Amino acid sequence: MRKWLLVFLLTGAAAGLSFTRKKAALFRVPDGWPAPTYNFANNRLTNEGILLGRALFYDPILSADSTISCASCHLQYTAFTHVDHNLSHGIYGRIGTRNSPAISNLAWSGLLMWDGAVNHLDVQPLAPIANRDEMDFSLDSSLIRLKRSALYPSLFRNAFGDTTITGERFLRSLSQFMLTIVSSNSKYDRVMRHERGIEFSQQEQNGLKLFRQHCETCHKEPLFTTSGFANNGLPVDTLLRDQGRMRITGKPSDPLHFKIPSLRNVEFSYPYMHDGRFERLQQVIDHYTSGIRHSDVLSQELREPIVLSANEKVDMIAFLLTLTDKAFLYDTSFSYPRFLFIRQTKE
Ligand code: HEC
Ligand code: HEC
Repeated sequence: MRKWLLVFLLTGAAAGLSFTRKKAALFRVPDGWPAPTYNFANNRLTNEGILLGRALFYDPILSADSTISCASCHLQYTAFTHVDHNLSHGIYGRIGTRNSPAISNLAWSGLLMWDGAVNHLDVQPLAPIANRDEMDFSLDSSLIRLKRSALYPSLFRNAFGDTTITGERFLRSLSQFMLTIVSSNSKYDRVMRHERGIEFSQQEQNGLKLFRQHCETCHKEPLFTTSGFANNGLPVDTLLRDQGRMRITGKPSDPLHFKIPSLRNVEFSYPYMHDGRFERLQQVIDHYTSGIRHSDVLSQELREPIVLSANEKVDMIAFLLTLTDKAFLYDTSFSYPRFLFIRQTKE
């Protein structure tokens, strides 16, 4: 387990965890980061709750034909997204309508989904479970299966004190696990913390400067998103004509506004954008310099053209690659909990 998981350094009341309990910290705010928006006081993390959530995240039992788990579309090695498909691939080979987003640092996230359709992490799992193209199941049917399983009653008891399996406990434990998926150990983070011997190359340093000049207003450090929505000038996709945020708000000022994704681990989270239209970072940079569609609803920050030389584009990409966090991608505490499932088949 990584050191930061053990250190207990939560800033103030934000977390609502008691300092008097002598337990190891299960969540800590990395130095210099803002307070989380998730209210931990309403869902106290425990090792057992996190483990239950982790089991559920990796278990295809939550889909109608028991083939698709959350992890089918959110794979750890690719920063909890799915790289083989531009649009998500779910049950019975059905193709969804959007690119599966990378998942990390959800404790700081505001509204969820590309269009902000979901307003709280604790209800988010209901969406993929019920989605016809994803898991095509329901919470109630999932709970029935969990009650009948050999594994879950004891996991619920460990997490919540008795074997009662309720929707609320189910959702809380999934949140608990997802909240622990924190990425804060990229080269960028280590340089910012002034760790000894870790420095940006000249190229990366220049890339950071350019990034702060052109991208920072939306992809704000250290989370690399403001958690807001923006229209970054992508031409509307001809197939789905996804209007993004406007679908939810109905506001004429919101068409083609999508959630600003974090750029952490962007090296691995391709393809990019809500519909996965770009495969490579070079294409993304080219979009920002020469592909932007100007319109009344283009976000203000992108109205001035961004001019970058070929060298500057290389520098920008070099900087984006410093957001790769290998410790996160290979952290075994987020990985498939093989030990649980092996035990279950033996029983
Ligand atoms: C078939 C693929 C698929 C499966 C299975 C799936 N997801 Fe997703 N996930 C997506 C897609 C696509 C989106 C974006 C949906 C949208 O914008 O409408 C998403 C969005 C999310 C988000 C929001 C991230 C953000 O920053 O806004 C979270 C959290 C999440 N999924 C967790 C889960 C959990 C938990 C499960 C299992 C219960 C799950 N997903 C199952 C494809 C999938
Ligand atoms: C006006 C706000 C804004 C600015 C400024 C901005 N972006 Fe974005 N960025 C977005 C939004 C919104 C999306 C998602 C759009 C979509 O999917 O339709 C996005 C998506 C991306 C993605 C894809 C990430 C993924 O996981 O799919 C990358 C990479 C990216 N931006 C890099 C940059 C870079 C580099 C700059 C500076 C040159 C920049 N952005 C400037 C708003 C912005």
